[in-house]
Amino acid sequence: MLRSCTCGDLRIDNVSQNVTLAGWVQKTRKMGGMTFVDLRDRYGVTQLVFNNDVNEELCERANKLGREYVIQIKGIVSERSNKNANIPTGDIEIIVDEMNLLNSSAVPPFTIEDNTDGGDDIRMQYRYLDLRRNNVRSNMELRHKIAFETRRFLDAENFLEVETPILIKSTPEGARDFVVPSRMNPGEFYALPQSPQLFKQLLMVSGFDRYFQIAKCFRDEDLRADRQPEFTQIDCEMTFVEQEDVLNMFEKLMRHLFKYVKNVDFDGAFPRMTWEDAMNFYGSDKPDIRFDMKFVEIKDLTTGYNFPVFDSADYVAGICATGCASYTRKQIDQLTDFVKRPQIGAKGLVYVKYEQDGSVKSSVDKFYAPEVIKGWLERFDAKPGDLVLILCGEKRKTQKQLCELRLEMGSKMGLRDKDTFAPLWVIDFPLFEWDEDSQRFYAMHHPFTMPNPDDISLLDTDPGSVRAWAYDMVINGVELGGGSIRIHDGALQKRMFQLLGFSDEQAQDQFGFLMDAFKYGAPPHGGLAFGLDRLVSMFAGLDTIRDCIAFPKNNSGRDVMNDAPSKIDDAQLKELFLELNLPAQD
Ligand code: AMO
Repeated sequence: MLRSCTCGDLRIDNVSQNVTLAGWVQKTRKMGGMTFVDLRDRYGVTQLVFNNDVNEELCERANKLGREYVIQIKGIVSERSNKNANIPTGDIEIIVDEMNLLNSSAVPPFTIEDNTDGGDDIRMQYRYLDLRRNNVRSNMELRHKIAFETRRFLDAENFLEVETPILIKSTPEGARDFVVPSRMNPGEFYALPQSPQLFKQLLMVSGFDRYFQIAKCFRDEDLRADRQPEFTQIDCEMTFVEQEDVLNMFEKLMRHLFKYVKNVDFDGAFPRMTWEDAMNFYGSDKPDIRFDMKFVEIKDLTTGYNFPVFDSADYVAGICATGCASYTRKQIDQLTDFVKRPQIGAKGLVYVKYEQDGSVKSSVDKFYAPEVIKGWLERFDAKPGDLVLILCGEKRKTQKQLCELRLEMGSKMGLRDKDTFAPLWVIDFPLFEWDEDSQRFYAMHHPFTMPNPDDISLLDTDPGSVRAWAYDMVINGVELGGGSIRIHDGALQKRMFQLLGFSDEQAQDQFGFLMDAFKYGAPPHGGLAFGLDRLVSMFAGLDTIRDCIAFPKNNSGRDVMNDAPSKIDDAQLKELFLELNLPAQD
């Protein structure tokens, strides 16, 4: 080894020891005849001292060190007179008596410090330098710890880690596939897996019983703060289980991770909420239940008072913001602007202030007498000092708008603390989702999801109301994972494909291998997958999953460091029998 210890190892107990360190020059300071160098590696920073009076030549060389030069030094550990309580090695310094320059460095494009002067783009372009920074590196350490604890837990529960292919068959449903042309099979393409879904089901047919994989997944979809085109799942599947067994197993995994990685214990079982309740009370299938502020419907109390906006709406509902009656006109206008943004799309916002003196003041005073409005406040269980905010319109659309308003109020009121964790199972998802444009049903989770056995008779009469044996784990309003019990019966699977509008030939062509496998004793099975990136970013309190991925893509799906995607040359295209047909550039 080029070193006897790391830059994070040494403490006061090591004083008088001879040590060898290697690392990067964080910064140098010259003070009179002394030169101080902060030497950094993954483990910490240690102060080096060069004394001009003792060794002029060595001190001269130290003065010439630039930022990020790589050096090796030998010296003796000494107690610092001017201690630095902010770093673990702050009680000591190394009196250097020998230095080897291992490599020089070009001047880095931004300072490699916690509060860097580098903007997002430049840091992504030089991501290998960004990764030298403590906060970025510690996100990667956290990621390692979560992956390690996941493996430790699942191994102890008898799960086998099995790798599944990356070059697979393109199948419809879900997001768009990334595809890869096959040179050896001209005109044919592989797809990159959106998840190992079908393979893990086949492994259950193979009798593997319990499978997991920390798996790379690829989806060509629009990117957001919590979405990357390639991301990682903790993908799991179990045989001979019902929904309850899967929920229990993975609630246990989540508790394990919170305990061993974050030192957080949860009291009692994770709450469960039906999809229907989640939509009706929070307007979202991933409610943030760190705070309450549930929706309250008041359509029946608002109709018939000649207020056309409410009269004509099929849904009128609101939220009660505790203690916010003191909001000024300006603050309420800001909230109105917020809900009227095109991304949210509400037409307006009605407010009711329940003043401290018990009187009411609202934006619809013209239409409703105070006693009527008091009736609304009663239903909201509002107290003097509270502010009620009301939206109306088509039910599901308005619920989504109200969801955004609720989250905005939650943030404004300081109810969304990053260090508070509120886990929730959302269950009883609908099996199908109706798409108006294509006038057909889509599988809400995926086509292999088992209908709730109590609703199977509705498959023929009212498919839209069939509940699935599907579930999501939601923490703080983030969908961390989801899964389902799968169909293991060939006839039921065939019926599903029919309901989803697949002809027998299409079903055979796309999923024939799975349906064939199911003829050979497919056991009951089910599972789920967690988004590892989302989990890490939640544990680290990050706003985007990009910061916990070593080499992420930007919002246009580009890796700005290596400039991918990029053009390929004509010879490569020819070899693949491909021709480009690009739209004209304007
Ligand atoms: P699903 O599509 O719900 O289920 O994905 C599971 C989890 O993966 C994470 N996730 C993502 N993370 C980052 N970027 C993305 N683009 C992205 N897409 C999904 C989320 C999500 O909850 N095969 C099923 C699982 C199963 O049924 O077992 C599946 O993939 O955290």
